[in-house]
Amino acid sequence: MAQHTPLPVNPDGGKLKGIRGQLLTFKADPFLINENECYDYLSDALVVIQDGHIVDVGAYRDLAPRYPQLGNGDIESYANSLIVPGFIDCHVHYVQSPMIGSYGDTLLNWLNEYTFPTESKFKDKKFADEVAREFLKQLLEQGTTTANVFATTFETSVDAFFEESERYDTRMISGKVLQDRNLPDSLKDPDTKESIIIAEKLLKKWHHRGRQLYAVIPRFAPTSTPEQLKLAGDLYRRYIDQGVYMHTHLDEVQSEIDWVTQLFPDQPNYTEVYKSFGLVDRYSVMAHCCIVREEEWETLHKADCGVAHCPSSNLFLGDGEFKYWEAKDATRPVKVGMGTDVGGGTNFSIPRQLGDAYKVAMLQSKNLDAIKSFYLATRGGAEALHLENTIGSIAPGYEADIAVIDLQPSEFSTWRMKFTKTIFEKLFILMTLGLNNLNKATYVAGRKVYDRSRDRKWMHAAELDKM
Ligand code: GUN
Ligand code: ZN
Repeated sequence: MAQHTPLPVNPDGGKLKGIRGQLLTFKADPFLINENECYDYLSDALVVIQDGHIVDVGAYRDLAPRYPQLGNGDIESYANSLIVPGFIDCHVHYVQSPMIGSYGDTLLNWLNEYTFPTESKFKDKKFADEVAREFLKQLLEQGTTTANVFATTFETSVDAFFEESERYDTRMISGKVLQDRNLPDSLKDPDTKESIIIAEKLLKKWHHRGRQLYAVIPRFAPTSTPEQLKLAGDLYRRYIDQGVYMHTHLDEVQSEIDWVTQLFPDQPNYTEVYKSFGLVDRYSVMAHCCIVREEEWETLHKADCGVAHCPSSNLFLGDGEFKYWEAKDATRPVKVGMGTDVGGGTNFSIPRQLGDAYKVAMLQSKNLDAIKSFYLATRGGAEALHLENTIGSIAPGYEADIAVIDLQPSEFSTWRMKFTKTIFEKLFILMTLGLNNLNKATYVAGRKVYDRSRDRKWMHAAELDKM
């Protein structure tokens, strides 16, 4: 394990907690430097946590004597498991949870047929609350601790999401979706200027409230008038120095790109459309990027944008095929994380996205090994969101967001694992078989908010603090 300086224990702080087991964490991008220098794997590790942060991590036998305050009851030990940073979902629509798995054909038909009618229902706060509750449960069950999340047009949809996230104390990014044309009246922003006023009000309410972060979200270029895109760009630029994001879709499928070309004939490509409105900058996250021209990759690299690779959705909607070797061209690399894109994606699991990413690569005569894959699922996502000094790794000072993967989630997998040697062989099998029941426990800011074997699997922060 790399040398690092532990955080000093705060004598007046909360009780120390420990998590013990095999551990994997990343410290650099294996697409750009030698893979074996990018991660630390420990066969018996101890993670020491205080007040929501990781204080120390290392081999159990070295660390345990240094923390005599940690009694046996304070350490949770996990056998046949792997402690990893909580997964990061860089692009997902919580509001599409009620229509995941809807039969459809192309992206644009699927949006009209299923997505827009479902999203229209989020004016009703009770409905939004119910969906937010279910969505967060699904994420935490899968070991996802941070997500970059589309709400929809209505203020209620944003409040419902952040309120539930705040109850778990998860670090989440979301915001009001800006959309004022080419969609049903029931979902359209009725007044463009007003839509920006509401977005700014929500931004002021939620950005940096606890662990919540705000994003300015024009859905995609075809559903915003040039006026709305311009005002969205102005809003983003007013707040970018405070870490406010811009989140949208880019270059997902050819029919969408053709539509954008028709709507914005003066721009040379789709990325330039966003750039011309001030929407391409370091806190911009672009979902999909399946069909990208070289000059667009260059623009994304120069601006230091993040890209969300959403293979399950791209396969389901028959979009296009993401090309990681283009994104990661060493002369102008772009930051990439994984996204489920639920409801285009057909499940909430980041490891299952990795299985699909492998197949998307294979269709194009490339592949993706488990080292690169689990980097994308954790630190890669944090880098795409510019949060790599806060989440996505297990090291002193990081927020204690952790998943505990079951290396034997079924009888068959237990048998199959007998024929493996390395941890990466095991991880490759798990991501490829896409097994259910993969995650034993999820810690958020040091609290075990999900525990597969507890009577109440999901618990909010305040409930856990009372125990
Ligand atoms: N492009 C614009 N809106 C959407 C959406 O909701 N899902 C996907 N996959 N692509 C989009
Ligand atoms: Zn999407």
